[in-house]
Amino acid sequence: MDIRVESVDESARKEPLTADFGFGNKFSNHMFMQEYTPEKGWHDARIVPYAPFEMDPATAVLHYAQEIFEGTKAYRRADGKINLFRPWENAKRFNNSARRMAMQIVDEEEHLEAIIKLVEMESAWVPEAAGSALYIRPTLIATDLSLAVYSSNTYLHYIIVGPVGAYFAQGFAPVPVYISDKYRRAVRGGVGDAKTGGNYAASLFVGAGAKAKGYSQVLWLDAIEGKYIEEVGAMNIAFVYEGKRIVTPPLTGSILPGITRDSILTLGRDLGYEVKETAVNVHEMLADIKSGKITEVFGCGTAAVIAPVGKFGFKDEEFIINDYKVGPVTQQVYDELTGIQTGRIADRFGWIHTIE
Ligand SMILES: Cc1ncc(COP(=O)(O)O)c(C=O)c1O
Repeated sequence: MDIRVESVDESARKEPLTADFGFGNKFSNHMFMQEYTPEKGWHDARIVPYAPFEMDPATAVLHYAQEIFEGTKAYRRADGKINLFRPWENAKRFNNSARRMAMQIVDEEEHLEAIIKLVEMESAWVPEAAGSALYIRPTLIATDLSLAVYSSNTYLHYIIVGPVGAYFAQGFAPVPVYISDKYRRAVRGGVGDAKTGGNYAASLFVGAGAKAKGYSQVLWLDAIEGKYIEEVGAMNIAFVYEGKRIVTPPLTGSILPGITRDSILTLGRDLGYEVKETAVNVHEMLADIKSGKITEVFGCGTAAVIAPVGKFGFKDEEFIINDYKVGPVTQQVYDELTGIQTGRIADRFGWIHTIE
């Protein structure tokens, strides 16, 4: 792909941040963009100074939320090089989300090329601190100017990047999770397996209710029977039974197929655990925490990588897991995964693309 580059001029250039990244509100100097029209196809691929868009108030995405996005990270290695973690899987999921939302797909190879070129240009923004990374946010939005409800004919594809620290302010430490008895995130046949903004908008009210009760995340149950566990916050979830079996719910259509989840299925087997994708009934799960059969629980996703769950709240009861401590399996999976991501541990699965 021919990517035109227009660099930010020296007077406007921001120096890369080296600390206080927060999560998701600091961005580098440049961004990638290209447009789609039926006449020209994808065109005018370019990396330009990071800047606001001007948008007509009637732009389709602002009304009916025809939009999708991705989230992946570039990690700084000890030798100074940069690792991308399975970015081709994000590219594939980007197009799967686009198809589900009736949007124009992108060329996956060209999308990856754009990410690599942008990260190369912004390499000084890939932070070194433990737990930090350069977050990469590809986005696709519908740009027809119309209030009629239909699938847009025109699209904008853009990619922004920015340094991020730990997703949770307290870092790698157990979080309290509230089990939503009443509200559901997604239903089979809906769009739960697409990374589309509306799923997240719909979760905010429930998240705020959980926060008001002192919990940091919501555990989502299936929308049909209200008893099978699906996801935790914007992460997939895994349960450890008796310290030796790792169980995660199967991909039924309402769960986002997480790349971290998929990596843990492979890594867990490689580390000698019995790994299973099995429906987990919430009542049995809580009984198994009480009896001690479930020894650890963790969420997994790109943002936090691994988030140990310290307790569940359900109705008026609390269920403490592993004395509210990070368990050995959670710690091992976290160390292995972050080790491979940052190049501390050899990439035995072919997951890494290194930028020299
Ligand atoms: C709803 C939801 N579930 C799960 C995940 C985990 O997916 P991944 O591991 O690919 O980041 C994400 C994204 O981070 C998500 O938004």
